Amino acid sequence: MQQSNEVYAATERLVLRHFDKQDVNALYQYRSDPDIARFQSWENYTYESAEAFVQAQIAQKPDEPGTWLQYAVALADSNLLIGDCAVHTLQAEPRIVEIGYTLAPEHQGKGYIHEALGGLFGYIFDTLDKHKIIAFTDVRNVKSIRVLERQGMRREGHLLQNYWSKGSWTDEYQYALLAPEWRSR
Ligand SMILES: CC(C)(COP(=O)(O)OP(=O)(O)OC[C@H]1O[C@@H](n2cnc3c(N)ncnc32)[C@H](O)[C@@H]1OP(=O)(O)O)[C@@H](O)C(=O)NCCC(=O)NCCS
Repeated sequence: MQQSNEVYAATERLVLRHFDKQDVNALYQYRSDPDIARFQSWENYTYESAEAFVQAQIAQKPDEPGTWLQYAVALADSNLLIGDCAVHTLQAEPRIVEIGYTLAPEHQGKGYIHEALGGLFGYIFDTLDKHKIIAFTDVRNVKSIRVLERQGMRREGHLLQNYWSKGSWTDEYQYALLAPEWRSR
């Protein structure tokens, strides 16, 4: 595995940086928690999955159409991984990106994802010069809905039975924020 220490954004308490091989155990700890997995695509997450994920992320470059890059969210003072923010550059329209996010349970309730997304949105709109950020959330994921609305994202749609999740069709909300909306805040 190669190492990458690239930092994409820094906030008061956090850095958003490239994933690194030192992150495997922390990633495994939160992804294997059933509460964290509840509204996510994975189940019964293994240590080997965490190793493969980190290896793939180390090799992944930002902003390649049709791919996701997971930005490691780490504490600024210790560089400890506490979560991740994902960015998907759409294949058909690379000026639009989709985001996702996860935070280790012991670090929730402190505004870390709100702060991380503040840094990430600045990077997406100012550095990558994107036109629009979109996000999808399971309608039952109350914490995620609060994250998106606290970030100033607008609910643009209620998508009925939009994806198959853990044995049933699931409704999603689609949220969005345009670059001019971000700049006028
Ligand atoms: C979605 C998720 C990231 C939200 O985590 P979170 O800790 O609630 O979000 P934040 O880090 O932004 O913290 C916000 C909370 O901290 C509180 N807070 C404390 N200090 C704060 C500060 N300085 N600034 C902002 N908020 C602060 C807020 O009041 C808020 O609590 P509330 O929602 O009860 O009002 C987390 O629940 C998670 O990882 N879930 C599993 C993965 C998932 O489902 N992801 C979404 C699908 S993409």
